[in-house]
Amino acid sequence: MFLLSITVLIYGQFYMCATSSYSDKLKLYSNLTAYINPRFRPVLNQTHVVNVNVVVSVLSITEINEREQSITCSIGLTCWWVDETLRWDVSQYGGTSNITLFPNEAWLPEFIVGNTLRNDHTLFVDNGLKLNVTNSGIVTWHTGGNMKTSCPIDISNYPFDTQTCSIIITKTLSDDEMDITLYSIDVKLFTYFENEEWALVRSSVTKETIINSLSSFKVTLFLKRRSLFYIINIILPMVMVSFMNILCFKIPPRSGERISYCVSLLLTFVVLLSTTAETMPKMSDNVSYLQIYIYCQFWLGCFITTISAIIVKVDHSDTHLNVPRWCQLILCLSQSTKTSKVESLETNSDRKGSQDMETFSSPVDDESATANQDVLKRLDEVLFYIFISLFALTTIICIALVLSN
Ligand SMILES: *[C@@H]1O[C@H](CO)[C@@H](O)[C@H](O)[C@H]1NC(C)=O
Ligand SMILES: *[C@@H]1O[C@H](CO)[C@@H](O)[C@H](O)[C@H]1NC(C)=O
Ligand SMILES: *[C@@H]1O[C@H](CO)[C@@H](O)[C@H](O)[C@H]1NC(C)=O
Ligand SMILES: *[C@@H]1O[C@H](CO)[C@@H](O)[C@H](O)[C@H]1NC(C)=O
Repeated sequence: MFLLSITVLIYGQFYMCATSSYSDKLKLYSNLTAYINPRFRPVLNQTHVVNVNVVVSVLSITEINEREQSITCSIGLTCWWVDETLRWDVSQYGGTSNITLFPNEAWLPEFIVGNTLRNDHTLFVDNGLKLNVTNSGIVTWHTGGNMKTSCPIDISNYPFDTQTCSIIITKTLSDDEMDITLYSIDVKLFTYFENEEWALVRSSVTKETIINSLSSFKVTLFLKRRSLFYIINIILPMVMVSFMNILCFKIPPRSGERISYCVSLLLTFVVLLSTTAETMPKMSDNVSYLQIYIYCQFWLGCFITTISAIIVKVDHSDTHLNVPRWCQLILCLSQSTKTSKVESLETNSDRKGSQDMETFSSPVDDESATANQDVLKRLDEVLFYIFISLFALTTIICIALVLSN
């Protein structure tokens, strides 16, 4: 893909050298190459510096691997410099003003990738693209390659994360032998291939000195994960299922459908969890808020199912309910806040007459059953509000955490 891009880019330049004859070119070529050795820097006075101009372009981003903490991308470099040994008088060669040479026939600036994860230091040499030399000694060279470099990836905000990856490209010659002048990074090249998962938000290139008198340049890519896929496939179903789980408390325990409703939702949860685990980056030291949120909702779901089972059990048993004092207090508090239900409470307590509020107990079985039902109804209501607030709280905290980063 990289080579294709470069070829497309410079194809237009290859067919133009037409005015000069074959023998002119041959003569020029023999004269030029006879007296040069690519080993030495192309300055006649060897104490001078060779100044190499570089334009960096990002051709594609192939992959970002969270587990390996790596990014694979194609970077292209367009370099030009003055080669003092490759100059000629145009008139002596039938007007030939430019010629192409193979990379091994002339001096080349050597670049290596500083933070590469592969063993490919010759990345910028073996791409077979020719050098373009003009009669004033200006050499233009397109190079680049597909490289895999290390990139620390923080998935806390997954799937709304942005990552900053840097590719350090350094040279083999010291600063007094070769200097680099950087031109701005050229990303939105027409050959740039968009990645389906990551959007390239911004990119920059800066010159840095990492080791003494060995300046290098750092290409920084700011990437944003495209999160729509995760919203549709993970987040929305999770939120819906968690919410529906709480509706358990709205189903009357007598209907007999309550437990099956809870359990089937829990099963849906498990299925969702396993599909989610597949798409999640498999890391342990660095857990995303989304994962924590999903597990919170799952445990809430388990808890709801357990409580529902107990409630259904109590509802179906004939023995009267001995409600502890603190529980009664909560139930009474919840009742008193709702003015619309005060009436029903009054009729209820009227019926019980002077009976002790503390026990809800009655010697008659029928009356105890209705009292039980009443308590359970109120308990369901309280639990519904408790769990819906827990659900809202966890959701809000999760959103806040994601937004704050
Ligand atoms: C070399 O570069 C010059 C100037 O950019 C251009 O006019 C010429 O066509 C190029 N020649 C080849 C063979 O690419
Ligand atoms: C390069 O050579 C071609 C044909 O030989 C010519 O048309 C073109 O103008 C040259 N470019 C430069 C920059 O000399
Ligand atoms: C080509 O090389 C020959 C032999 O060194 C030399 O005599 C001739 O002047 C050269 N031609 C040019 C144009 O430099
Ligand atoms: C090379 O350049 C340096 C500094 O520019 C100068 O001092 C030295 O004399 C030059 N050497 C030759 C052989 O021209």
